[in-house]
Amino acid sequence: MDYAKNILETIGNTPLVKLNKLTEELPCLVLSKYETFNPGNSVKDRMALKMIEDAEADGRLKPGGTIIEGTSGNTGMGLALAAIVKGYKCIFVISDKQSKEKMDILRAVGAEVVVCPTDVEPTDPRSYYSVSKRLGEETPNSWYVNQYDNPSNAKAHYESTGPEIWKQTDGKITHFVVGVGTGGTISGVGKYLKEQNPNIKVWGIDTYGSVFKKYHETGVFDENEIYPYVTEGIGEDILPENVDFSIIDGFTKVTDKDAAVYTQLLAKEEGMFLGNSAGAAIKGVLQLKEHFTKDDVVVVLFHDHGSRYVGKMFNNDWMREMGYID
Ligand SMILES: Cc1ncc(COP(=O)(O)O)c(C=O)c1O
Repeated sequence: MDYAKNILETIGNTPLVKLNKLTEELPCLVLSKYETFNPGNSVKDRMALKMIEDAEADGRLKPGGTIIEGTSGNTGMGLALAAIVKGYKCIFVISDKQSKEKMDILRAVGAEVVVCPTDVEPTDPRSYYSVSKRLGEETPNSWYVNQYDNPSNAKAHYESTGPEIWKQTDGKITHFVVGVGTGGTISGVGKYLKEQNPNIKVWGIDTYGSVFKKYHETGVFDENEIYPYVTEGIGEDILPENVDFSIIDGFTKVTDKDAAVYTQLLAKEEGMFLGNSAGAAIKGVLQLKEHFTKDDVVVVLFHDHGSRYVGKMFNNDWMREMGYID
């Protein structure tokens, strides 16, 4: 018989799927690393399990402990699945701009969810960074994960996602394009790929309202770049330790409207029912057109599933209210 001993054993080994219609104008092959095949429907299952395993190994997470994290949903899902299998409790702190579906899903897998305002400074005691940190200090036998600065996050992608992409493309990948939030995916995958072939170009997708692109280009952390935005999962108003700017060749910014419209187009044109950051990522690939030539093999990573966005990017009333469609 061929079966997984528990749901965690099904994490990883996701398919690589060719884009067809949306990328017709590009000269090269565009392949998507299709991470919704993970059991929690996102790439974050990989790093969630790795962060837990590393914390267990060095005693930061003890039997029966409580896992505390500030998460926009996907990391929480991965942590919750691992917590169920391994016998931990979870408290997740989430910002109020995240879709209601994400909060309901986290509750469905047994987590306690604390909702915080988005439009406050990261240092404000009400911010989701501050609240998760405080809960970590106050809750007995707890472990504060901190996916932003936890090195096991990028390491998970260095050990699994990167090698999978290298193997699946038979070493022919020339460009890796991916949305950047905590930076774990881009830094781990990018480091692995550049170690195999230093000529591979690594591009980050950023949002308007985030600091990454300007910081990468100028070394200046410009607070004027920071304002609220709609796109979920990518962009930051902080510099997480998991973003290794030295392995990133460049960033391109995608508007909230384009990210939302292209999330719909992926479903309608490619049959790919994916999350909002996938729309941003594919639009970013199109924006980078001038960097690609005929023989290039571009891999774009799609982080999460469309079911988490049915009240937003897949709801035409919401799309109209936002002015994204007529
Ligand atoms: C939907 C989605 N897209 C993109 C990202 C960014 O990935 P990373 O945090 O590895 O940079 C995240 C992470 O939170 C996410 O949830």
